[in-house]
Amino acid sequence: MGVGKRVLLIIAGGIAAYKALDIIRRGRERGLDFRVILTKGGAEFVTPLSVASLAGSKAYTELFSLTDEAEMGHIRLVREADLVLVAPATADLIAKMAHGLADDLASTALLANDRPVLIAPSMNVVMWRQPAVQANVATLRARGVSVVGPGAGDLACGEVGDGRLAEPLDIVTAALKILSDGPLKGLKALVTSGPTFEAIDPVRFIGNRSSGKQGHAIAAALAAAGAETMLVTGPTSLPDPAGCKVIHIESANEMLAAVEGSLPVDIAVAAAAVSDWRPSREAQQKMKKREGGEPPRIDLTTNPDILATISAPGPKRPALVIGFAAETENVVEHATAKRQRKQCDWILANDVSSGTGTFGGADNKVHLISAAGSEEWPRLSKTELAEQLVARIAAQLKGAKS
Ligand code: CTP
Repeated sequence: MGVGKRVLLIIAGGIAAYKALDIIRRGRERGLDFRVILTKGGAEFVTPLSVASLAGSKAYTELFSLTDEAEMGHIRLVREADLVLVAPATADLIAKMAHGLADDLASTALLANDRPVLIAPSMNVVMWRQPAVQANVATLRARGVSVVGPGAGDLACGEVGDGRLAEPLDIVTAALKILSDGPLKGLKALVTSGPTFEAIDPVRFIGNRSSGKQGHAIAAALAAAGAETMLVTGPTSLPDPAGCKVIHIESANEMLAAVEGSLPVDIAVAAAAVSDWRPSREAQQKMKKREGGEPPRIDLTTNPDILATISAPGPKRPALVIGFAAETENVVEHATAKRQRKQCDWILANDVSSGTGTFGGADNKVHLISAAGSEEWPRLSKTELAEQLVARIAAQLKGAKS
């Protein structure tokens, strides 16, 4: 599966470093070829000799080693890799990556790197939950770094919680997924997800109950299929999906600006529940109650239609534009009209009437509506639906190319 692919594995100094040996073993069984950098801390936990024995090539440790630089400079180490895998990724190395520090071979190689990066964090639960660590991980994700784990369970320090290195086989699987030449390799995709919040005043807003689950699952599936994926999302409680570049926005106008800045793309999926209206004026100060006074009136103005903007004919129109239609009655009929009105290629129409559990739920039931007509899909989990949609997108674009 991974035959011929080269991984630059960076082993940082955490107690889970010993599991990196198993990553090498399981990766090699699946055809991966490893070059390894051991940080100074990493070398406290595993020896260069055990790494070299398993990897079949020497472990690089020092930035200013004349022999290491002469044999294989730090730039070449990353240039010759198809993927850089940091496992275990310690809080310290994650911070260096987030801030662009380069004071040893591992951090310098990471800074000189232009290949996909996968990190497998591992640390004590309290460290993992520190806002500083979470902010650094969020920064890396937003730059397109993929993250696998950490898992929850017993930690080497005796505490219990998040922070365990993901299982070696799961790390290898995540690496293979990134390395696989997915069907959408070479294509760019854009997904909108989540609700928008439209400010009334500095503390109040108009929003909706969209969880972002479906849009985030679609972005993750597009990235897993090899597309360079940008996700523009309103506020949700979901983590950023692996392998995507993520732009966080609040209002429809901000979403439109982020979307326009991301064009041109080949595939666009508008899964966001964009607020149709926003308050005409945003009060600059918190609106106060007045004793016996009338409640305030909120004048609304119409938001831009982001899907219709993406779909409008022009040089930047994506090859395939897909929208959603949330309907409570005459689902297919209304969604068919919406497809024509918004000029998108496909609409996924879902019934969101009360009792269906679609909003915020784990499942979805849709009709795919295209110029060819309408097709009813079975009830699927939002992840399965995303995978099926991506398979259809790949088939459609392949058909269009040939
Ligand atoms: N959409 C958008 N920008 C908006 C409103 C909607 O991009 N301002 C997109 C949504 O992401 C979705 C599709 O349009 O892909 C359908 O949204 P929906 O709210 O169901 O349709 P409306 O246009 O609001 O039509 P109606 O309220 O009449 O059903």
